[in-house]
Amino acid sequence: MNLLDGKVTAAAYKEKIAKEVSELKASGNRAPHLAAVLVGENPASVAYVNGKVKDCDEVGFKSTLIRLPEDISQEDLLSKVEELNNDEGLDGFIVQLPLPKHIDEKTVTLAIDPKKDVDGFHPENVGRMALNLPTYLPATPHGILMMLEHYNIETSGKHCVVIGRSNIVGSPMSILMARNANPGNATVTLTHSRTADLKAECLRADIIIAAIGKANFLTADMVKPGAVVIDVGINRVEDASRKRGYRLTGDVDFEGVSEKASWLTPVPGGVGLMTRVALLQNTLQAARG
Ligand code: GUN
Repeated sequence: MNLLDGKVTAAAYKEKIAKEVSELKASGNRAPHLAAVLVGENPASVAYVNGKVKDCDEVGFKSTLIRLPEDISQEDLLSKVEELNNDEGLDGFIVQLPLPKHIDEKTVTLAIDPKKDVDGFHPENVGRMALNLPTYLPATPHGILMMLEHYNIETSGKHCVVIGRSNIVGSPMSILMARNANPGNATVTLTHSRTADLKAECLRADIIIAAIGKANFLTADMVKPGAVVIDVGINRVEDASRKRGYRLTGDVDFEGVSEKASWLTPVPGGVGLMTRVALLQNTLQAARG
């Protein structure tokens, strides 16, 4: 089994991005500028957003973190989004999800100017992705494509099984793998909780992308020898021996599947790092215009 190493891949892309930022600045442009809006104190969201700010620093981007109280009204949040839409000193921004229950995520997503929607969540950008038009690709699927490209993993003509049909990972991933593009040109099966025989579907796969959010869900008996396995899961599993009382584990039973797969992503140190790099890539694209 070969490791699809997120640390190595993310570092390679970050170096490329940092070099492009230097060139942009050398030719008189300002640094790319990303803003992140964080509503409330959700610990996972705080950690994600802090990671994004740190990534920006590393590649020479400007970043702005906008922290808003948990009880902010939807109207006030929409005013903030409008202000960011009109801020010419800003290339792109994200509103970290999930939002508090009293705020409708769809309404907020629709309010973001598609040109600044570096998450690629606005329906206009989702449509552009489906039509293979230039757009911002959602960060996790984009990061996975960048990883496949970095390791020269052949996808054309391969059978790809995606597990999970979420709006931010499984559904866009299935569209991207089937597109006439490289990586892409795969024959794709999108599976979900109502799939009749998931094991049989997985056993036919040359490439499996697991994005269901269940710890150690994909086991060795579901994997064809030589398959490429991408683990999108980040699950907290109780572990009293750890300082925080939990450890992170993916949707794939790493130990078992490593006996079968030709390539496999670890958790942590795999797709999560690529998601962060993909957001940087989208922001650079926004800055270039
Ligand atoms: N919450 C979990 N993943 C994401 C993401 O990629 N973007 C935003 N905005 N929120 C998230």
